[in-house]
Amino acid sequence: METIKRTKIADLLKSTAYGSTVNVKGWVRTRRGSKQVSFIALNDGSTIHNVQIVVDVEKLGEEFLKPVTTGASISVIGTLVQSQGKGQSVEIQATSIEIYGTADPNLYPLQKKGHSLEFLREIAHLRPRTNTFGAVFRIRHNMAFAIHKFFHDKGFFYFHTPIITASDCEGAGQMFQVTTMNLYDLKKDENGSINYDTDFFGKQASLTVSGQLEGELAATALGQIYTFGPTFRAENSNTPRHLAEFWMIEPEVAFNDILDNMDLAEEFIKYCIQWALDHCMDDIKFLNDMFDKELIERLQGVLKEDFVRLPYTEGIKILEKAVLDGQSFEFPVFWGVDLASEHERYLVENHFKRPVILTDYPKEIKAFYMKQNEDGKTVRAMDVLFPKIGEIIGGSERESDYDKLLTRIEEMDIPMKDMWWYLDTRRFGTVPHAGFGLGFERLLLFVTGMANIRDVIPFPRTPKNAEF
Ligand code: 4AD
Ligand code: MG
Repeated sequence: METIKRTKIADLLKSTAYGSTVNVKGWVRTRRGSKQVSFIALNDGSTIHNVQIVVDVEKLGEEFLKPVTTGASISVIGTLVQSQGKGQSVEIQATSIEIYGTADPNLYPLQKKGHSLEFLREIAHLRPRTNTFGAVFRIRHNMAFAIHKFFHDKGFFYFHTPIITASDCEGAGQMFQVTTMNLYDLKKDENGSINYDTDFFGKQASLTVSGQLEGELAATALGQIYTFGPTFRAENSNTPRHLAEFWMIEPEVAFNDILDNMDLAEEFIKYCIQWALDHCMDDIKFLNDMFDKELIERLQGVLKEDFVRLPYTEGIKILEKAVLDGQSFEFPVFWGVDLASEHERYLVENHFKRPVILTDYPKEIKAFYMKQNEDGKTVRAMDVLFPKIGEIIGGSERESDYDKLLTRIEEMDIPMKDMWWYLDTRRFGTVPHAGFGLGFERLLLFVTGMANIRDVIPFPRTPKNAEF
């Protein structure tokens, strides 16, 4: 076989170099045709679109073509021609085909189209080869890129916070332990406590639930930073919106207050959605037509509107009134309650019909580091609530006063020995500052219109599931 440079299908489909000889490589999506002519739909992952390969059966041989079935990998050399068929601009008239690998039709699971998303989760090692997951993972890449671009262009520094940590940022006790101790032979002291002196780190260590605390150290030095990394939560929530391993983006900005924080969050999330519309339209269109006919409209809608900014207390009043007016919720609503996603979605989808930033939550339901309001009851928290999702961002202005922070740490029984380094930011050159965390997969749920968070991360980790 002659060697010529491979062209990716995404580039080929834009080409008008009719008559030129090209080489494409990829995986066969389908092959159909007659005794005389065979049509291969070939995909190489560079785009949702396939390129059509037209084969003169007599020329290449019927026997030769037999193993060219769905899933087989091939290299094709041929002539680029303007397509006669509708729905495609160019096609390739094959002069030679090399088969890299076959995919036995009796064994390869991705034969027919229209497998359920549940089934595809069981073959997550192969699902990137479907149109749906190709689209989702291309969008996922583009969103990651947009996030770095947004912050870089604004002069933020990407700061790497540790994955293994000894502190519980959210104080919710949902951490996965990291240990090299022999679990079959755990040494305990006379009180029955485990002695971590002999463990790898010489103390109890876990996977991080958030990079925020270390992010604050960086923000109070470099000014404005963001983290973007994996985070882990051992919360036993089997919902379409929770993962045990997810990615989070956490900007942290010195001298920002809660209002600056809201502005940044709104600008950031709109930038990401605009980026998706500008750079991923082929994939979004596919997902719109396949799964969610209102997807594009919803994405465009969010860009047009200012987000509502509303104190928690006002939000509760709206929800209580809704209940009086006959709205039924699974969980009760009263001042002090941590809102469930049904409440958040009611405010966004039914009441305001646009995203809502809820602020000033009761301090009891929020983390120790949030700035305390004068009322003694609420903290300067902000959650961004989105249609279909509920909470997509959680953040706050931070308590910058050493004494108030220390009191809160003591009130909430947070082990002090883990916090000395964090408190030093308030002991030396403390400044007002604020930040938030965006759940990357929640953003992807919104942008792709997928309904289950397991379908926007390549290999989901959830309770009782760590396959692949
Ligand atoms: O609201 P959370 O817990 O906030 C923090 O971790 C702060 N330290 C962030 C900060 O201020 N720097 O989590 C932030 C976001 C949530 O709004 C949600 O989008 C996402 O992370 N998230 C999850 N996503 C998927 N699965 C889970 N189990 C998640 N838990 C939180
Ligand atoms: Mg939260």
